[in-house]
Amino acid sequence: MEGPTVEIKRGLEGVIFTETYLSAIDGDAGRLSYCGYEINDLAARASYEETAFLLWYQRLPAEDELAMLSAWLRANRHLPKVVWGIMHSLPEQATPMEALRTVASTLSMFDRSCIHQVEGGSSLCRAVSLTAKLPTIIASFDRLRRDRPPIEPREDLGHAANLLYMLNGSEPDPADAEALETYFVLLADHGMNASTFSARVTASTLGDVFSSVVTALGTLKGPLHGGASQRSMEQLLEIGSADKVDAWFDRLTATKQRIYGFGHRVYKTEDPRATILRDLSRRVAQRTGNTRWFDIASRLEARVLDHPYFQERRIYANVDFYTGPLLYALDVPLDLFIPMFAIARVAGWTAHMLEQQKNNRLIRPRAYYAGPRDQVWNDMPDRVPQVEAQPETQCVASRPANCPAALEVPPRFWPLPESPAS
Ligand code: COA
Repeated sequence: MEGPTVEIKRGLEGVIFTETYLSAIDGDAGRLSYCGYEINDLAARASYEETAFLLWYQRLPAEDELAMLSAWLRANRHLPKVVWGIMHSLPEQATPMEALRTVASTLSMFDRSCIHQVEGGSSLCRAVSLTAKLPTIIASFDRLRRDRPPIEPREDLGHAANLLYMLNGSEPDPADAEALETYFVLLADHGMNASTFSARVTASTLGDVFSSVVTALGTLKGPLHGGASQRSMEQLLEIGSADKVDAWFDRLTATKQRIYGFGHRVYKTEDPRATILRDLSRRVAQRTGNTRWFDIASRLEARVLDHPYFQERRIYANVDFYTGPLLYALDVPLDLFIPMFAIARVAGWTAHMLEQQKNNRLIRPRAYYAGPRDQVWNDMPDRVPQVEAQPETQCVASRPANCPAALEVPPRFWPLPESPAS
């Protein structure tokens, strides 16, 4: 391991650290399946509850079994009373993902619904509880911030229909509920993506389900992962109309900026979920009579596919690209896009956690130490300061976390500024 010749797999690219029975991705053929069932079949036929059953038990449920799981999930949608106090005390500037992460974490202290202490039983029980409750947290948070009273979940509605009902206060159009349900099925699991991996790392310490899900929520939020759906819709909003796509695209490519919603670590062809979401997004847009955002997305995708830079790098639309116009057409607020991803992915996270703990080995990779060795200890008077003392800027309350400006960035980790030409 030691020595400068060691091969570093930055970003763990291509590293296989475990086997899984949950989902399979063929990045060259553009195929995805859950437990052997093709994503196209699942998207067309399965409900989210049925998909969660498939991931948790690795088989499709019989009719009675699905009815049991549905009832179990639906009975768990209500939040414990004490959580409402926490929801009301969240600061005004809290984002939905921060609220979701905080409340999901809080639930672990109050969730006493899991009475089965048999091995695995308790974890599955908590997986069900969290999967059922995330939509209630998000819908309630969204209503509270708009000064509207939260709406109690309804057990007679499916997973997506109930969420839309809790958000808007009226029963959704069945076609809207169906579209969102399909989105949830499409995003329920996806191999060893960053948030799932982080959930498994926590699970491998024998951490509990809540800790795993909170870890995953934190990972999902980043713009290179779940955050891309929101960013990609923001791009469409910034462009504004289909006739402005060309100028926007030319500017971005000229300045070598990333276009959100394109590219994937594993898919080197079209992401099969993007294919389904493109179609779904078009249908929802046509039904609502507003195809503006879909048209911009379509035009932008055409420019990307036609450009040699993206062709050479085999960059195509990913799952987040058509998620934007789809969720926007369903009137989902922009900053709820990442929570929507989380609501879908929690079944996968928890299935992976259960799988990890079934045949556990602590996940503990190594890093190559690239810093100096054999340093000689200097006493304080002998040390040379590298940062100029700026007492007037120290600990200014308006800076985040009272961060003293001079020490904000450890200078050692930044490239030295180029010396001015003499
Ligand atoms: N726009 C422009 N260029 C992109 C790009 C994008 N969306 N995605 C990748 N590239 C380019 C990189 O600049 C790099 O170019 P280079 O070879 O000249 O340096 C090359 O393609 C490889 O990119 P890299 O970041 O090394 O690939 P990765 O496997 O780490 O990337 C993502 C995967 C998802 C992080 C990347 O495609 C990305 O940032 N996409 C945008 C964010 C996004 O949509 N995320 C959601 C993923 S589901």
